[in-house]
Amino acid sequence: MTTESTADVRLLKDLEPAVEAGLNRHLAGAKEWFPHEYVPWSRGHDFGAVFGGRAWQPDQSSLPEAVGTSLVVNLLSEDNPPSCHPIIAEHFGRDGAWDTWFHRWTAEEDLHGQAIRDYLLASRTVDPVALGRARLAHVSAGFELEHASVAEVIAYVSFQELDTRVAHRNTGRLSGDPVCEGLLTRVTQDENLHMLFYRDLLDALLELVPDVAMRAVATVVTAFRMPGHGIEGFRRKSAQIALAGIYDPRLHDDDVLLPVLRRLNIFERPARGADGERARGELAAHLTALDRAAQCFTQRREAARQRITDADRPTRVARNAGPTVGTERTQ
Ligand SMILES: [Fe+2]
Ligand SMILES: [Fe+2]
Repeated sequence: MTTESTADVRLLKDLEPAVEAGLNRHLAGAKEWFPHEYVPWSRGHDFGAVFGGRAWQPDQSSLPEAVGTSLVVNLLSEDNPPSCHPIIAEHFGRDGAWDTWFHRWTAEEDLHGQAIRDYLLASRTVDPVALGRARLAHVSAGFELEHASVAEVIAYVSFQELDTRVAHRNTGRLSGDPVCEGLLTRVTQDENLHMLFYRDLLDALLELVPDVAMRAVATVVTAFRMPGHGIEGFRRKSAQIALAGIYDPRLHDDDVLLPVLRRLNIFERPARGADGERARGELAAHLTALDRAAQCFTQRREAARQRITDADRPTRVARNAGPTVGTERTQ
């Protein structure tokens, strides 16, 4: 996308009232909070030998392994908006409500990154050296906008903010740590406001340029990639996260894509141009295929869990232990 695109320049201008309305609603609804209020500092110890601290060891983490992986992936994704801010500003301009919104949004994503990093360090959930190296590598790799036009960027972020919210929510739920869940619940409240901002902007886009917007939605949904896909080992990490039920194809379909599409009445909006209709048809076909893929994934995962539970049963009986702890143990 370039700012030289006449259509995009006009679109940015035409969308400005919707951006301003969304920004004002966001500022009125957002609640001030600070990481230090949610981070369990009392659990922390010095790491550095120079202070008589304790080096990190894997057995210091009390969270399920998949939860730790998800926290790291989510954190590295949160690290990226500040690094990509100049690129966004370049494409969306530095004027008016757009500019104010992007600064505010960036600051809030940065806040999430600070809070999650502080939690990880205080709770000794992950190796701080590995985390620091992963952050440096991820941010140093640079950032490219995922899509090529204003319409596609707006459509992408509408779904991306909701998938981030779902991932944070389920990470907190499966953590077994009320402090972790409390922090991530707070973060999800911000993510929800972000999603509302972009989803309503997408709604305005569908009114302004229905065919362009419908094509953008179809393009984004059919080629969707999670934020953080550039993280080293992302495929392995996302598989671990999916097996744990934190974020998987079923959740992507049921908790992210369909709620946004339904809310926007994507399949009920009056027909417009031929390309809009073609895009809507492609979207419907993709959702049908996605539903089948999600069913297959869920069945395979349940079968794998059952096999592991069966294999584990004599051991657990011998130990007189309770049920298997956490979904991550089944991986
Ligand atoms: Fe965030
Ligand atoms: Fe967000």
